[in-house]
Amino acid sequence: MAVQLPGPTGLANLTYGRLFLTRPYAAIAALYAAYGPVFVYGQGPFRYFYLIGPEANHYLLASNPGNFRWREAFEVLAPIDGETALILSDGEDHKRRRASPDEADDVMALLVATKDETGDFLSNLEVRDQVVSLIAAGFDTTSAAMGWAVYAMLKEPAIWERARAEVEQVTGRGPLAVEHLGQLPYLDWVISETLRLYSPAVIGVRKAAAAFEFGGYTIPAGSMVIYSQYITQWMDE
Ligand code: HEM
Repeated sequence: MAVQLPGPTGLANLTYGRLFLTRPYAAIAALYAAYGPVFVYGQGPFRYFYLIGPEANHYLLASNPGNFRWREAFEVLAPIDGETALILSDGEDHKRRRASPDEADDVMALLVATKDETGDFLSNLEVRDQVVSLIAAGFDTTSAAMGWAVYAMLKEPAIWERARAEVEQVTGRGPLAVEHLGQLPYLDWVISETLRLYSPAVIGVRKAAAAFEFGGYTIPAGSMVIYSQYITQWMDE
């Protein structure tokens, strides 16, 4: 007999719902504390299976990625990014769009020059969708990471000073160039630690193509599954 998945019901649902509205990540952390690493939360089309913690991340992203679909999980982005954007496509077309481009020195030239193994270029629509994704997926994430890095360093002025000294030593107080990037190990650690503690992408979503077992439970085919890199990095253990 299938084991019932943990998760709140009745009034408890409302209590967590209120917390979700104001502090969604605190709500996920509270659900994890109450129900463990596998739980169900939400109603109707917003009913999600949460798999929380390092084992869950590994299961979804590294050991079994083939069982999880990307397209259905990210379709909410389709009106903005476009149907063919890398950020929401998957399958063979996705691989074709990721093909290595020929030599080119800016993003637009790379996209226009990209060919698949049969020599086909991206269509105009595909180029448009990748450019919009670049703005949507690339701008918000990098600017949030930069903001958090400055915040984290200013909280520990000795770290700010050490990073600044490294940049000055490498650039000689001139402008920063691509060649300098490999010579800034301390700044690199600061950025990695910032991304770990203040990850701009806080949760990820997938649709299960087939039923699977995780943590002693069976998650049905077609379930929407959520994992959280953010909660994982803030877990006490
Ligand atoms: C600090 C900066 C960034 C962070 C933290 C970040 C985070 C992520 C994460 C976590 C995913 C995978 C989501 C999942 O598996 O559920 C992802 C995918 C993706 N990101 Fe970023 N991202 C960053 C910058 C960018 C930039 C600058 C671009 C575009 C220029 C970009 C474009 C994409 C695309 C196209 C995908 C889908 C990849 C694929 O399926 O082939 N990201 N990003």
